[in-house]
Amino acid sequence: MQKKNLSGQVAIVTGAGVGIGYEICRQLCLEGASVVLNDIDKNLSDIAAEKIRNEGGNCVAFSGDCSEISVIENLIKIAIESFGKLTIAIANAGITTYGNFLEYEPKSLDNLLKINLFGSFFLAQASAKQMISQQSGGRILLMSSVTGRIAHPNLAAYGMTKAALEQLAKNLVIDLSPYQITINTIAPGATLTERTVEDNDYQKSWSRITPMQKPATVEDIASAALFLVSPQAGHITGQSIAIDGGWTSVGVSPYL
Ligand SMILES: NC(=O)c1ccc[n+]([C@@H]2O[C@H](COP(=O)([O-])OP(=O)(O)OC[C@H]3O[C@@H](n4cnc5c(N)ncnc54)[C@H](O)[C@@H]3O)[C@@H](O)[C@H]2O)c1
Repeated sequence: MQKKNLSGQVAIVTGAGVGIGYEICRQLCLEGASVVLNDIDKNLSDIAAEKIRNEGGNCVAFSGDCSEISVIENLIKIAIESFGKLTIAIANAGITTYGNFLEYEPKSLDNLLKINLFGSFFLAQASAKQMISQQSGGRILLMSSVTGRIAHPNLAAYGMTKAALEQLAKNLVIDLSPYQITINTIAPGATLTERTVEDNDYQKSWSRITPMQKPATVEDIASAALFLVSPQAGHITGQSIAIDGGWTSVGVSPYL
């Protein structure tokens, strides 16, 4: 029988109780990786890890706010205690706070920066330190968004955080390449998750303006993530892949 592509790999994925992160954990496990699944909501992370175990996956839950240094340290500790090492870290957790630029409050920006940037930065740092100590390379993936590349109404602050993550990945190429650790981002476009799947207007409006005529599924996003953290992607680093059905490739046109 063929060996699974990610057998022997150990991953951490944050914000993974539902949505894109959950599907990434599920696909990692289906490909043979062992996964520490994090969510701020204990109930969600416990249920999610159990669902994956019921499908035969090797998955443990650890709940907590992944923008807290103590939670990040614990995630690494649990990966080592449960599975002996850490080879893949995926900073998926992120919040989307819509808000008019002229009225955006410091409190909202503080919270957004903490989760989207502080949490991702320090997960990358702690994971890199662990991977360096193991001396066998590794994969780090950050979660961007198409709105980090293209302006979108009421997403100035959110888009700024996602653009920053893409630049962080490029910069860390300098720090991490000598250790054979790759660092990339993926930039999903509109994606159907538990939050949006029941919303017919969301589906209809994104289908109308997306060249591929539909929003992404969580499977579309997870497949790209899995490739970038796989052994096959060992020479790809500092890059960002948009999974957007072509949305960022096409400008506004009077003829479309
Ligand atoms: N869904 C989309 O259309 C879309 C598009 C582009 C980018 N993204 C990005 O993809 C990532 C996942 O998006 P999603 O829509 O699947 O997420 P989501 O909003 O459905 O949330 C996923 C989970 O993250 C958890 N979470 C929130 N804050 C957390 C924290 N501080 N610590 C730990 N867990 C936390 C939530 O409890 C939730 O279960 C985010 O970074 C988001 O910005 C999503």
